Amino acid sequence: TTVEWEAASYDMGGHDTYMHKEICEQADAVDRVLRGRIDDRFSTVHLGGLNLDAREARSVRRVKILGCGTSYHAGLIGAQMIEELARIPADAEPASEFRYRNPVVDPDTLYIAVSQSGETYDVLAAVQELKRKGARVFGVVNVVGSAIARESDAGVYVHAGPEVCVVSTKCFTNTTVAFALLALHLGRIRDLSVADGKRIIEGLRKLPGQIEEILAQEAEIKKIAEEYADARSMMFIGRVRGYPVAREASLKLKEVSYIHAEAYPASELKHGPLALIEPALPTVAIVPDDDLLEKNRAAMEEIKARSGRILAVAHQEQDKADRTIVVPKNEDELDPILMGIPLQLLAYHTALALGRDIDKPRNLAKSVTVE
Ligand code: G6P
Repeated sequence: TTVEWEAASYDMGGHDTYMHKEICEQADAVDRVLRGRIDDRFSTVHLGGLNLDAREARSVRRVKILGCGTSYHAGLIGAQMIEELARIPADAEPASEFRYRNPVVDPDTLYIAVSQSGETYDVLAAVQELKRKGARVFGVVNVVGSAIARESDAGVYVHAGPEVCVVSTKCFTNTTVAFALLALHLGRIRDLSVADGKRIIEGLRKLPGQIEEILAQEAEIKKIAEEYADARSMMFIGRVRGYPVAREASLKLKEVSYIHAEAYPASELKHGPLALIEPALPTVAIVPDDDLLEKNRAAMEEIKARSGRILAVAHQEQDKADRTIVVPKNEDELDPILMGIPLQLLAYHTALALGRDIDKPRNLAKSVTVE
């Protein structure tokens, strides 16, 4: 069985769907996850529910993040942020896979369970198994007081507010911001400098305004979506920070428009997926203005040479792409938070053009509380 949402219980606020409403709420939602947490004096953040003293924070040797669906993808971004800012080896894995491969549970690893609902069975069962084995488990959860929040030793609330649409948008964005806060916090206890802490804080403060800038491009993104809506399949590519963004964007498109989509690291194109490239298979390329820009441009060149159409999401107009959605630049480490947002709008407008049941896609449920 699944948890059913009650459509009548939330106001649509003039939007035609909850998905649209929730996409448009993201500047406020990010504001909420930041509120009251920034400490300018020490260039760090306070996370009230963390329950981890400095000595314990320094003794963490690994971070393992567990979640399902969109929350797993937010975890992939979170793992990179924790590695980059706190220099702790970190990775993310689907909770259900983790649980069934009889993992080695390590006392020096910090386990983090990610969940919008806080009720997803596979995540909850992984938490319970970990706790039974004496592991330390944190939650990064949206719904206050939910099962996963209660079972975790400590955690960070995501404060996205209620999310009704089956596909997650604002909670995804807020979860990546919550991970940025956690990464900054752990980093500042460890080896992240005051200057870098300050730089990240300034970047965090810019997010709500930059989200508004992205949302202001909706009319343009709608046109692009209508251009691409006839595709039977789409490829999403990115590298390092851009790769989890590509994965989430591909999931969003599949879930809500039913168009088949695949996500690949751009560096893996030549090892197989290049065989698929032809005009009928458009590619969405995530192209942040970071040290991999030239590599990403080369990947787009490869696609162009095979007559593939390209939509780039980038910090500046891309001459190798047919279309570019330009997003505002933030600090390199925080760029993934913003780059997925135009692709939420792309998925939404594609689904709208195809007449899909946007808030309740076929075969899916908001919260999967059984195995
Ligand atoms: C379901 C939903 C997804 C969601 C996943 C995890 O499959 O359809 O949108 O990402 O569950 O949900 P959670 O509440 O744990 O984040």
